Amino acid sequence: MTSAIVTGSPAEALVLGIETSCDETGVGLVRGRTLLADAVASSVDEHARFGGVVPEVASRAHLQALVPTAHRAFATAGVTPNDIDAVAVTAGPGLSGALLVGVAAAKAYALALDKPLYAVNHLSAHVAVDLLGNGPLDEPCVALLVSGGHSSLLLVPRIGGEDVVELGATVDDAAGEAYDKVARLLGLPFPGGPPIDRLASSGNSAAIAFPRGMTGPRDEPFSFSFSGLKTAVARWVEARAKVGETVPVADVAASFQEAVVDVLVTKARRAAAEVGATGLCLAGGEAANSSLRERWLDACIADGLRAFVPSRTMCTDNAAMVAAAAWYRLALDGPSSLASGADPALRFPGY
Ligand code: KG4
Ligand code: ZN
Repeated sequence: MTSAIVTGSPAEALVLGIETSCDETGVGLVRGRTLLADAVASSVDEHARFGGVVPEVASRAHLQALVPTAHRAFATAGVTPNDIDAVAVTAGPGLSGALLVGVAAAKAYALALDKPLYAVNHLSAHVAVDLLGNGPLDEPCVALLVSGGHSSLLLVPRIGGEDVVELGATVDDAAGEAYDKVARLLGLPFPGGPPIDRLASSGNSAAIAFPRGMTGPRDEPFSFSFSGLKTAVARWVEARAKVGETVPVADVAASFQEAVVDVLVTKARRAAAEVGATGLCLAGGEAANSSLRERWLDACIADGLRAFVPSRTMCTDNAAMVAAAAWYRLALDGPSSLASGADPALRFPGY
């Protein structure tokens, strides 16, 4: 167990962040609220032919990429390991073997350098990252977290605090997962978000009226469901193919995207109004989506809310977000034990 603590001002600490929860090996360096380096090596190409991330392939890729990625981050930031004040690492949720690679590396740095270790929740890190763009979140803030594995609406009084409230979550597929599945049935590559996003820009979003899940009067106001939408897209495409009609792929992509974005933005606005939030934060890989970003900013202007929208590169998995989450933690509580491990099913909120 390390007794190391941050010496000097926690608000200006130099934090090394490490992220290996899925298929991106990330090493980031953040001083205070300033991003110094964000090095990412992705194994996504190795998974593409399987249509999803293969855990064992991801773990091996992390092992190979971690040291070179760390060297790249230190070189870009112009600092050495001896300069860092704290080490932050994604402890979960994520793929077990993949997480272990990052956690082992972070512990090695912390032990060798005698610096405190902060185990970070991957989802908190997604929400925290806009610290580096727009500064600390308003309190209270409503955050929409949309990634490949999660879709939740959160009330975030303090990132990393135990008082984050999950207002609602998906009852089936995550939004990013729906993108990946719809892309597959349209013959588009994995991950499906970026190609659907591109294709949708040339399609008619009003061409097909796909269903908006969980928007009935009796449905949970802040929960989501994207499985029915995915099935509706599949049925629509199958029906066209059956009668030999060409599938208007761009219109399908645009109409599908419209159905997803409409529900996400509508529910987020409703949540912000209900809890009296002053800020609306968009987070997670899906937050890179052009239409969602545009509609989010429009909604914030219309409702008089401060918009927290990270840059596109900061939305998908990276380690700068892990260091950003630690920035909030440094002022809140002590470091994690070196005995703490990776937790693939790490609960949320927490960390
Ligand atoms: O947060 P993330 O990088 O990894 C997880 O923690 O899951 O999110 C990955 C997800 C994928 O499902 C991907 O299709 C989606 O984010 N995504 C997008 C876009 N870029 C990435 N979805 C829609 N539009 C995009 N431009
Ligand atoms: Zn993520």
